[in-house]
Amino acid sequence: MAEEPELDVLLSTELTFPPPSGFVAGAGWSDPAVYERAAADPEAWWAGWAEELEWIEPWHTVLDWSDPPHAKWFEGGKLNVSANCLDRHVAAGRGGKVAFHWEAEDADQAGPEGRRVITYDWLLDQTQRFANVLKGLGVGKGDVVGIFMPMIPETAVAMLACARIGAVHNVVFGGFSASSLKERMEVSTAKALVTADATLRRGAPMPMKEKVDGVLPDLPDLEHVVVVNRCGTGCAMLDGRDIDWQEAVAAADPVCVPEPMDAEDPLYILYTSGSTAKPKGIVHTTGGYLTQVAATHRMVFDLKDDDVYWCAADIGWVTGHSYIVYGPLANGTTSVMYEGAPDYPGKDRWWQIIERYRVSILYTAPTVIRSFMKWGEALLAGHDLSSLRLLGSVGEPINPRAWLWYHEHIGGGRCPIVDTWWQTETGAIMISPLPGITTTKPGSATLPLPGIKAAIMDESDEMIEEGGGTLVLTTPWPAMARTLYGEPERYIETYWSRYGNDVYLVGDAARIDEDGYVWIVGRIDDVINVSGHRLSTMEVESALVSNEGVAEAAVIGVPDDATGQAIVAFITPQDGVEAGDGFTIALREHVAEKIGKLARPKRIYFADDLPKTRSGKIMRRLLRDIADGKELGDVSTLRDPSVVDSLAGQVKASGGR
Ligand code: WT7
Repeated sequence: MAEEPELDVLLSTELTFPPPSGFVAGAGWSDPAVYERAAADPEAWWAGWAEELEWIEPWHTVLDWSDPPHAKWFEGGKLNVSANCLDRHVAAGRGGKVAFHWEAEDADQAGPEGRRVITYDWLLDQTQRFANVLKGLGVGKGDVVGIFMPMIPETAVAMLACARIGAVHNVVFGGFSASSLKERMEVSTAKALVTADATLRRGAPMPMKEKVDGVLPDLPDLEHVVVVNRCGTGCAMLDGRDIDWQEAVAAADPVCVPEPMDAEDPLYILYTSGSTAKPKGIVHTTGGYLTQVAATHRMVFDLKDDDVYWCAADIGWVTGHSYIVYGPLANGTTSVMYEGAPDYPGKDRWWQIIERYRVSILYTAPTVIRSFMKWGEALLAGHDLSSLRLLGSVGEPINPRAWLWYHEHIGGGRCPIVDTWWQTETGAIMISPLPGITTTKPGSATLPLPGIKAAIMDESDEMIEEGGGTLVLTTPWPAMARTLYGEPERYIETYWSRYGNDVYLVGDAARIDEDGYVWIVGRIDDVINVSGHRLSTMEVESALVSNEGVAEAAVIGVPDDATGQAIVAFITPQDGVEAGDGFTIALREHVAEKIGKLARPKRIYFADDLPKTRSGKIMRRLLRDIADGKELGDVSTLRDPSVVDSLAGQVKASGGR
């Protein structure tokens, strides 16, 4: 990579953004010495954060790393996550504080129920009651409970109720297909499942309980289904098996003493995709996880008591677990929770929400930012976004053009941006600016947080100070995954065998620059080799989206007789741009200009949207199959399955493979 200076220039813009002085003045962390303090004694650093939580019994050992990769954090300690997220705030007299301003998708039509004010008092009451409902169904410590829910406050209640009694929740994103749900319930042998009659999607109820009913015959371990009535669709209920949430919670005992849990007891399982088709059940535990999500939520977002924080992810992903539920509630935060689509009923829905609740911190994903860019700035007109003081990004590298747009148009040029790098497996943010300290560079997640150590391995397995290679984490961290549910061997093989059992293989390619800043380049399997030149899909994509006419781009490598691999690009043009031969020629020329002729896509296909998972991740494996003209499998987990047909048709028409 070092021989290709123009690639570096492309990803790193010349621009740097020091923290604004006004922000620094009020920031909780503004002294860079915090990095040295944490590095000098990481265990003391994390123990300091753990002490901010409420423990039923103190730990005797901060970290046991004698048997890598099996870490034990805060051994001997006992605590309860729900007590930390709820009871202690209520006990401190803050029960009346708003935990969530919940906004229904149909808020304007739904009357008072469309905008619910969820206080810590209410959450604690509902959590205790629902914990007792679960107990009544025979669910106890260590049992797995499935949660397949819309974005409603009851989803957080269900998770907290599991945590209260020591049950392990397994949340499946509410937009997944019945077969994905079935697979995740089957593998985890869930005993009970919490769901809703339906969820609202762009104004129409989409049945959920009906999906569940379709797979129940194949799930013999699943004894009970608890159903929240969200949409009043009157779904079928089977006597003895199905329970009405509202009735059961109203009738339940309002007191449930929190179960003292070992720091290393599992808190939840969350399935995520791996390199094979079989999803991996990431297992997170109790004490270390809560310590790091609370610490990072407070530091990275420079949290203040009066902030109104909005993490616009879905609770069904790890971002929602760590930064809608556990981190914010552990910190007693006031959040916004929005049920629906960003473009319903209008494409300015988010800006209305920010204005209404005076949101001060917004945390979202680059794919959403690019959608807003595509829809244009006109939608922002007339909306007062002056309450915002900090912006966050997560999920994929944010290309500099989107970063700059976010900074200027949403942040009004005054809000620092924290580009947070982490994974389902890491449980919490690992690489990110601290907004009162770090000078940001658009496109870089910047530096490992205090207490975290990352490094880059080059092709000869050497750790390097500067340059490109494979990202690794070289010391254990409190929120790290402990295993894969039911697959302990796969856990070790996937993450802890490439460089030895004490070095965590992230699976991302990255570059460290002269300031030690980390630039995520893409997944390690996304590197394309064209005529012996290494190119990352991300670099070519960044070149493509730097063209005014491109809203979004995905690039893959396909086998090519002449060059080894060839580049194929899938493009969503900006509204109003005509996709055709002229545009194809212009884009090839544009990439040649930005990177070099070797990076020009051999073929370019256009679509209104790219095939994405419902969380917004572009499915590159599927793009490869499309480009290869292969038979496509199940596409039901896609956000918009119809784009696949359109792309496949173009591939066929172009005579591509
Ligand atoms: C992968 C993890 C973290 C919660 C949501 C995704 C990519 C994530 C960034 C970022 C560049 C990022 C990485 C990582 N990624 N955040 N700020 N910059 N890349 O969790 O589904 O487990 O995906 O997302 O490739 O490995 P996930």
